[in-house]
Amino acid sequence: MSIIENNDYNIYIGSLEDDFNDFLKKARNNYSSLFLLTDSNVYKKCLSPLNKKTNILGDVGLISIEAGEKNKTIESAIEIWQKLLEKNADKKSLLINFGGGLISDMGGFVAANFKRGIDFINIPTSLIGMADASIGGKTAVDFKSYKNQIGLFANPKAVFIDTDFLSSLPKEHIISGYGEIIKSALIDDLDFWNLISNENVDDIKNWDLFLKFSVSIKNKIVNQDQFESGKRKILNFGHTIGHAFETYALERNIELSHGHAIAIGIIAESYLSHTLLNLKKNELNQITETVMMNFARFSIDKKTIPTIIEIIKQDKKSISGKFNFSLIERIGQPLFDVKVDYKSIQKSIEYYLNC
Ligand SMILES: NC(=O)c1ccc[n+]([C@@H]2O[C@H](COP(=O)([O-])OP(=O)(O)OC[C@H]3O[C@@H](n4cnc5c(N)ncnc54)[C@H](O)[C@@H]3O)[C@@H](O)[C@H]2O)c1
Ligand SMILES: [Zn+2]
Repeated sequence: MSIIENNDYNIYIGSLEDDFNDFLKKARNNYSSLFLLTDSNVYKKCLSPLNKKTNILGDVGLISIEAGEKNKTIESAIEIWQKLLEKNADKKSLLINFGGGLISDMGGFVAANFKRGIDFINIPTSLIGMADASIGGKTAVDFKSYKNQIGLFANPKAVFIDTDFLSSLPKEHIISGYGEIIKSALIDDLDFWNLISNENVDDIKNWDLFLKFSVSIKNKIVNQDQFESGKRKILNFGHTIGHAFETYALERNIELSHGHAIAIGIIAESYLSHTLLNLKKNELNQITETVMMNFARFSIDKKTIPTIIEIIKQDKKSISGKFNFSLIERIGQPLFDVKVDYKSIQKSIEYYLNC
């Protein structure tokens, strides 16, 4: 079991049988009641393994919502508040968020607002949840089909990452989480990158090790700048162009997961890093190769590139025709607020399409 310390809470990586069961023993005394929030898929796949490890089900009020991003709404939050009230939750109750990023984003939002804020913890079950969503304190629901429009910063009391839960996670969600893990290595840690660049995601057995690296990186950056006034922006590497592809696919009903879109963004933005910040050619080649080894090609017609850049324009304010990007000068050395012009973005997408 490893412990990674946030300014406000601890993140435990290892089997729940260890630290979580100690936490639970204390929680039974310290809180008036415990509630477990989950979604319908995690309920089916992970609740019984959770109970085998922790014997928790006798102690908690269970609240389950329908799985899927389309349910990350204020209506679901209202449904959860209603259930909490029916089950007599009070200011001294604890909410345990057990699921992927949907559940930690939604559960954190629900807890932070219920009776002006009750404690919550996260037990992530998806790779995105473990590597990204359960740490850093961003909570939100979507609104009118725009992502994460209503929300607030609220930190959990603890995060418990047990990678055994990944065994039931469908492959496409593993791949999606892996995009964020690759990103974390590129913005912070050459040693971690060397581990990643030699491994195919299908062959990873030691997820604890990968998550230790990745979570430490996100946690370190968040600790330095929780509210994203500066340094936290480097976590957006790969996301400016990645988000544009994600939106493009979503609007046309084409299947493209968040992490896959970020993988495209990582290649294009590494190309920008090469042309604008002198990221070495051999580093660009290595990044391109590693990403393409793990992610299927997403093809669009070259004529569509202006449509993608148009989405970036809508997403980001341009300052005298230039856009702000987070890029890397070398692997492990990020730079934020780099100004990038239209032509360079176009070339970087062409690079992705031809790589
Ligand atoms: N707060 C943040 O900093 C942050 C960061 C990244 C992503 N997010 C948010 O996280 C969400 C995406 O995360 P996600 O991919 O985990 O979404 P998710 O929670 O919807 O999980 C993806 C799917 O996997 C299922 N699932 C989860 N764990 C499983 C398991 N162990 N076995 C079988 N099925 C399982 C879920 O039911 C769901 O169908 C988005 O809403 C995104 O906005 C937040
Ligand atoms: Zn992301």
